[in-house]
Amino acid sequence: MILTAYNRVPLPSFMYGTAWKKEATTRLVELAVASGFTAIDTANQLIHYQEALVGKALQALEKKGVKRDTLFLQTKFTSVDGQGGRPPYDPSADLTTQVRQSFDSSLTHLHTEYVDSYVLHAPYSRRGLGKEDWEVWAAMEELYRSGKTKMIGISNVAAGQLTQLCEQANVKPMVVQNRCFAALGWDQEVREICQANGIVYQGFSLLTANREVFADPEIHAIAKRLGAGIAQVIFRFAQQIGMLPLTGTTSRQHMIEDLQAEHLALSSEEVQRIETIAL
Ligand SMILES: NC(=O)c1ccc[n+]([C@@H]2O[C@H](COP(=O)([O-])OP(=O)(O)OC[C@H]3O[C@@H](n4cnc5c(N)ncnc54)[C@H](OP(=O)(O)O)[C@@H]3O)[C@@H](O)[C@H]2O)c1
Repeated sequence: MILTAYNRVPLPSFMYGTAWKKEATTRLVELAVASGFTAIDTANQLIHYQEALVGKALQALEKKGVKRDTLFLQTKFTSVDGQGGRPPYDPSADLTTQVRQSFDSSLTHLHTEYVDSYVLHAPYSRRGLGKEDWEVWAAMEELYRSGKTKMIGISNVAAGQLTQLCEQANVKPMVVQNRCFAALGWDQEVREICQANGIVYQGFSLLTANREVFADPEIHAIAKRLGAGIAQVIFRFAQQIGMLPLTGTTSRQHMIEDLQAEHLALSSEEVQRIETIAL
């Protein structure tokens, strides 16, 4: 299944996340691609991601015949506050320069001339969007117009901020990446804004943020009917409501199981039940 943002750029239906993999990043990205993942998420943020080791995996994969244009690469711009003291840009430079330097450094790390998606890791402002957010977004719009990224997006964004961005930006985001809590109707408010604007919603921590769902008897009954695992049911549910799920698994078996979830078919009643399971 392929998802499409409003600018008609297609995205694969599952994404492999590379956070917290440390030196295992190279091996795990190679394993994820060998298992069937075609979309990879990273960030130019050394405290959580090893973007250069993702690039090393891409080089190894290329040698094995995996061409760049068969993969979907997404990376992020992270503010100085989120960089743990090691920003990949001059922190005394203006924000436009920081975005350009971070982006160029990402291209170097990933051994590529373009990325498929470039994401603002989080708004600078807690509520609404401030001067910094608009300056960074304008720099990202410029990267989009240059063709060096096929999409731009925002992560860790609240509904009000996303609405403001959609209404006031010159280029609306094509992707949103948020932690997805079942207790918030699986981020229902933000998902609805995405749907209305042709934005692809990417959900992370679908398993780790929703432990209570794992204990729910109804989800066990659905898993039993489908002959599937609970994680598979959650991922398939996410896909059936139009979401692009991320998985950060380090297990080959889980990689295979996660991808196989796409072949499951939840009934519309089951989807509706899971949508409200933690409300
Ligand atoms: N934008 C942001 O601020 C942000 C923040 C967090 C994450 N992310 C992105 O989202 C990605 C995924 O993060 P995440 O928080 O969703 O996942 P995660 O925490 O990296 O991994 C999921 C956890 O669930 C376990 N698990 C058990 N069964 C599983 C199964 N069948 N399939 C998959 N995992 C299973 C995994 O263990 P095993 O390893 O044993 O499978 C792992 O401990 C990150 O790598 C990153 O790319 C983005």
